[in-house]
Amino acid sequence: MRAQMVLGNWKMHGSLVGNKTLLDGVLAGLAGVDSVHCGVCVPFPYLFQAQFILQGSQVIWGAQNVSQHEKGAFTGEVSVGMLNDLGCNIVLVGHSERRAIYGEDDATVAEKFVAAQKAGIKPILCVGETLEEREKNITADVVKRQLLAVVDKAGLDALKDCVVAYEPVWAIGTGKTATPQQAQEVHAFIRGLFAEKNAELAENLTILYGGSVKASNAVELFSMPDIDGGLIGGASLDINEFVSICKAAQPKAV
Ligand code: PGA
Repeated sequence: MRAQMVLGNWKMHGSLVGNKTLLDGVLAGLAGVDSVHCGVCVPFPYLFQAQFILQGSQVIWGAQNVSQHEKGAFTGEVSVGMLNDLGCNIVLVGHSERRAIYGEDDATVAEKFVAAQKAGIKPILCVGETLEEREKNITADVVKRQLLAVVDKAGLDALKDCVVAYEPVWAIGTGKTATPQQAQEVHAFIRGLFAEKNAELAENLTILYGGSVKASNAVELFSMPDIDGGLIGGASLDINEFVSICKAAQPKAV
């Protein structure tokens, strides 16, 4: 069976009081659900709170970004060691908002990926094309370039312990979800890219879809053969939406 996963990406949302309500609600809603790995990627200041509330539960937690550097004079940055101190299992690397707004290029994303893995934190490698790139018909080239930048730096075997999240930029936060067929096509392309090199690794790679996933479209998306769950932005801030989306992911035989 290939691991299925649903992760919330809170982005820059939250408050101590609101987070507690949300996390308590998610825990209650997911009681007894163990067929899918669920987690939340919260803003740095709330990692401590996430650890406090979630430790010992089936919900994992992590960050939305991390420095590629181990330590030093990097004002405003957060290291993998710090994430480890706060019990993080996962960290997003290369989210399109980091790439577009903060200028993270493929090389930087690859360095962050390596730093996270070295520290024993599972990187969630985000890739995806812009609307312009899709319209130019270069989606596959863009996704391939983003993935191979990491493979070149980390080696193919590094993909055994990571998760890939395909998030078409035009679908993020826009309400415009990719159709299940559009998403499946890119997911199959990603799996195929690695299958050429290592069939077993490709079969076992968890590939999430992200971009306007909601309770109302999750079942259809997650039932596609190469979609192994989702990376959820807006809908992860709503208890019922997020719990329903988590429940929509069902284990897939490989
Ligand atoms: P969205 O965000 O679900 O709000 O579209 C997804 C993401 O950015 O990870």
